Formats: sequence, C-alpha cells, structure tokens
Amino acid sequence: MQTNYGTQQTDIACTTIMPTQIIPDMVDDVRASLLQPPRSLSPKYFYDERGSELFEQICSTPEYYPTRTEHHLLSKHAVAIIKQTNPDQILELGSGYSTKTRRLFDACQETAQHCIYAPLDVCEEALIDAAQKLAEEYKWLKLKPLLGDYHGGLGNLPVTQGAHLFVFLGSTIGNFGQTTHARDFIKEVYNAMGSRDHLLIGVDRVKKDHILEAAYNDAQGVTAAFNLNVLHVLNRALNANFNADEFTHSAIFNADKERIEMRLTADSEQKIHIDDLGASIHFDKGDDILTEVSQKYTYSGIEKMLTAAGFSITNHYEDENAYFSLVLASK
Ligand code: SAH
Ligand code: TRP
Repeated sequence: MQTNYGTQQTDIACTTIMPTQIIPDMVDDVRASLLQPPRSLSPKYFYDERGSELFEQICSTPEYYPTRTEHHLLSKHAVAIIKQTNPDQILELGSGYSTKTRRLFDACQETAQHCIYAPLDVCEEALIDAAQKLAEEYKWLKLKPLLGDYHGGLGNLPVTQGAHLFVFLGSTIGNFGQTTHARDFIKEVYNAMGSRDHLLIGVDRVKKDHILEAAYNDAQGVTAAFNLNVLHVLNRALNANFNADEFTHSAIFNADKERIEMRLTADSEQKIHIDDLGASIHFDKGDDILTEVSQKYTYSGIEKMLTAAGFSITNHYEDENAYFSLVLASK
C-alpha cells in the first residue's frame, strides 16, 4: 500500500509493511495486558504524533544522557562505519525523526557512498516529517519510508541489491520487556540480513542508579508528560475515559533486573471505562500500570546478546564514561 503526501518541494511516498507473523490488534493487545493486574501496556502506543514530539524533547533534556552520548559516538565514528560497511541501503528500525542518523548520511556524503535510506517506524507523522526534511538536506539520498510494526516480523522489508546497514539506535532494544524477547528480536534481525550486511546498534549501559533515574525523571517534566500521553492515546483510539490528571509518572531502577521501570500510578480510587473493549477497570489509589521497561546492559552482556544470535562484533565503541555503547556487528 502506498500513501502519497504531496508537498511543494518533495513528494514522499510511505510504504506500509505487512506483518509476516500474527500480531494482536490494539483491542486484543490492550485487553490482554491492561484489564488484570499486573497491568501493563506495549510501548509502541506511546508514539502518536504528540508522543513522538515529546520523545524528541526528552532527547534534549539535560538529564537524558543517552541521546547526546550516542550522537557523539556517531559523529566520531560514522566515517569509519561507512567505510567498513559500504552500504547501498541503510535500513533503520524505529527511526523516529532520524535525527542522529544524519551523522551516517554526512559520512556517506564525505565518502561518496550514495545510498537508499529505508526508515521503519509505527509513527507515520514522524516518518513523513523526517523524510521531507532529509530530502531537502541530502539531495542525493533515495528515501523509502516504511510504515510498520517490527513486532510483525522483518520478512517483508524491502531487499535491494548490495550491502545493507541495519541501524537500531536509542537503546530501543532495552524496551523489549524480557531480555529473552530482546534476544529473539536480535536473532530475527540476523535472519533478515544477507552475508554482506552489518548491524549498528546503540545500547545503554548499567551505571549508578541516580544517573539512570534522573534520565527518566527530568526536572522539566517532559518524561512525565510523555508517559501520561499514553492515556490520551487510549482515550482516543479505544474510547476510554482516563483522566491523565489523576495519574502520576514514576521511573525507578530495579537493580536486580538492571532495568528502569516506568509506571503510571492512580492518585485516587477510580473506575475507567474503555468503550471499545466493553470493559471497566477499577483502580484503587496506588494501583499502577507498567508502561515501559528500559533494560541496561553491561559491555559483555551486549556482546553475549549479539554473538548468541550469530553475529561477530566488528567494533564496540563507547564514550569515556562507558555510559553508552555503539556496536557494529556483521553476519
Ligand atoms: N531511533 C530514534 C527514536 C527512538 S524512540 C532515537 O534513537 O532517538 C523509539 C522509536 O521506535 C519511535 O520512533 C517509535 O515510534 C518507534 N517504535 C516503537 N515501537 C515500534 C514498533 N513496534 N515497530 C516500529 N517502530 C516502533
Ligand atoms: N529507548 C529509550 C530508553 O529506553 C526510550 C525512552 C526514553 C522512554 N525515555 C523514555 C520510554 C521515557 C518511555 C518513557 O531510554
């Protein structure tokens, strides 16, 4: 399916990627995860247009070190990465506004490695906005935005001739819930790749809990607004009647599981009706919804996850504080 968005300067076509494996629709998914405790929600529902915009704002808060650290690593090593991988196509999973990916395009420009860019995301607004701006900034870049859910499988991604660089930034791998789900996904990426392809993945590291917790509890309250926005998404998509003013954001580091756990906690006793599920949820004061986990990894934990899937580590870049890893791996 193709949707055309005509603008004065560019004409961006977004291709819908059909799933290769069955994924529950939002009604079934939310019914299964939210109606009984322990209540949770899939992180993909954060990213409506406002959610994606708020996420971009999180990325520039002073407390959220992952984005600027990863950006710095990309700026420093992009030319080496492009020379090593010679990509004919860059395929990015969960690309958002493709902000940091620009450093790879700069390196392509510098090394005259002209390529196709295929960003995959669930947020159509972010994909279109990013593609329109990229078309202006990098005239040589061939854009192929892909609208889809990577949980639906990677078997329908467009395969072109030559070498592919798969890119998975922002430590989004940490948001897969169980670490076994993350490992399974890395294996799926491996299976989707050809023998000349590489994976470039950004992963957040285990560190002192006060640094981690500050990153998910910024003083301006952007992360809180982002977390609470998911209630507006449910209200709109499923005809629910959540009052976001009656919930509070929290993010704490679970040291046993080495992950940040983000929750929305009811400030008062309340009954929420979700019309499209034909169901109500009763919250006592203090009852919560687990809205996101962000797994943190050690240096060797990252390498184990990749090698267990079959990858060889080509380069493992880290910053001087060892806050964040950017890993280039090959098949
Ligand atoms: N790569 C960017 C954005 C990270 S935020 C960065 O590093 O800053 C996570 C991104 O993944 C969002 O743009 C979100 O819309 C997208 N996303 C979340 N779940 C997804 C899914 N199941 N399939 C495809 N994209 C998804
Ligand atoms: N991949 C990002 C991370 O785990 C996602 C993220 C950052 C996030 N801040 C958040 C998700 C706040 C939910 C709420 O760091």
